[in-house]
Amino acid sequence: MHLLTKATTATAVLLAIPGVQGNLNQLAKAAGKLYFGSATDNSELSDSAYVNVLKNKDEFGQITPGNTQKWQYTEPSNGVFDYTQGDVITNFAEANGQILRCHNLVWHNQLPSWVSSGSWTAAQLTDVINAHIASEVGHYKGQCYAWDVVNEALNDDGTFRADVFYNVLGTSYLPIAFKAAAAADPDARLYYNDYNIEYSGAKATAALNIVKTIQAAGAPIHGVGFQGHFIVGGTPSQTDLTNVLNSFVALDVDVAYTELDVRFSSLPANAAGYAQQANDYGAVVGACLAVSRCVGITVWDFDDKYSWIPSTFSGQGEACLYWQNLTAKPAYYKVQSLLAAAATATSSVSSSTAISTIKTTSTPTTTLVTTISKTTVTSSTTKTITTAAAPTKTAAHWDQCGGNGWTGPTVCASPYTCKKQNDWYSQCL
Ligand code: G3I
Repeated sequence: MHLLTKATTATAVLLAIPGVQGNLNQLAKAAGKLYFGSATDNSELSDSAYVNVLKNKDEFGQITPGNTQKWQYTEPSNGVFDYTQGDVITNFAEANGQILRCHNLVWHNQLPSWVSSGSWTAAQLTDVINAHIASEVGHYKGQCYAWDVVNEALNDDGTFRADVFYNVLGTSYLPIAFKAAAAADPDARLYYNDYNIEYSGAKATAALNIVKTIQAAGAPIHGVGFQGHFIVGGTPSQTDLTNVLNSFVALDVDVAYTELDVRFSSLPANAAGYAQQANDYGAVVGACLAVSRCVGITVWDFDDKYSWIPSTFSGQGEACLYWQNLTAKPAYYKVQSLLAAAATATSSVSSSTAISTIKTTSTPTTTLVTTISKTTVTSSTTKTITTAAAPTKTAAHWDQCGGNGWTGPTVCASPYTCKKQNDWYSQCL
């Protein structure tokens, strides 16, 4: 626990001091990111212990609906729209002051058969895509920080997936979808989202070409989502991850890790495995921290109890930051310490004049006993912190600048303007 004797805008600075524990989103923001978030799903929201962690916006400042914004839920029959289940998640996020990444609009999977098995002309399927996106993005207008507009268009060899969209429309469905999304919500950040594009190779190159194709067609694309479904010991190096992020940033798009988890390919895991998993998570977090246009990291749920892995990859799992009993793993502490270190570095560049006295604990010591992690607080110390410049009166790019209950700055640093995302969150864009 830490005690702030003087609550100032330097909160982030204080939390970032080595030995001070902080929540992941709090630390990510102090390190200059927009959020650290998690996916969730409707059935999980009846688990109160889980919800108590998920709803803490200091821990998870961003939520992605794991399923119920997908086409099979939102337009199960042609022209019949249903946002009942999607709204449960978006309402949850808004009630808790969490940013929404909305997921997804055009995807071959969880696509109702009336779309995937229809006999469409190009004009008909274009109308179907336009109507779907106009309705769904229109329904959530102003609520979604970002949309995964097109999801997983590529095969692993970099060729296009032969789904109904590509078979009927070729690559033209890409700009069609992005234009439709921009028309329905001009303020949403529009992403292409895929897996196995996080490291260099044919698929990453093909994803770069997707960005270029969309841009060449005059459609807006603001970001690329790197899902980040990795395997313990098989996660790409931080260098490779960083280089790939930078190759996308060179095309003037944001980047984000959107579905991060690192699974064991066989179980049970041992202490060495958990240590490796921590390093693997660390490589991904380190890559995002190294790239200023990496806006944030989303884990594809934070608790093994609700991971998608075991039902898809039999015998594999334990991919999340928390064990089933909501105990944090070594990977959690690795992520936390990297974010805290980055926040400290950030604060040394842009900190305030506040002089604050805080009581801190020492860095948690993690003891592994086969599958159980214990965090032991060994001592406590008092630190006096003197930092340098005046507190900022304006909010920086991406920072919060308004919303119900917001007491921070409401004016954005030039050239950004404060845009309302929802009743609880306005942001400098
Ligand atoms: O809702 C039904 C329930 O009524 C039924 O009893 C049950 C029986 O199997 O199925 C339930 O639906 C499942 C749904 O998740 C909700 O739990 C589906 O079977 C199951 O296939 C579906 O899996 C989802 C998967 O996408 C589908 O491809 C996962 O939860 C979801 O986490 C996963 O997410 C994807 C991203 O959208 C895109 N990137 C990859 C990622 C992981 O596969």
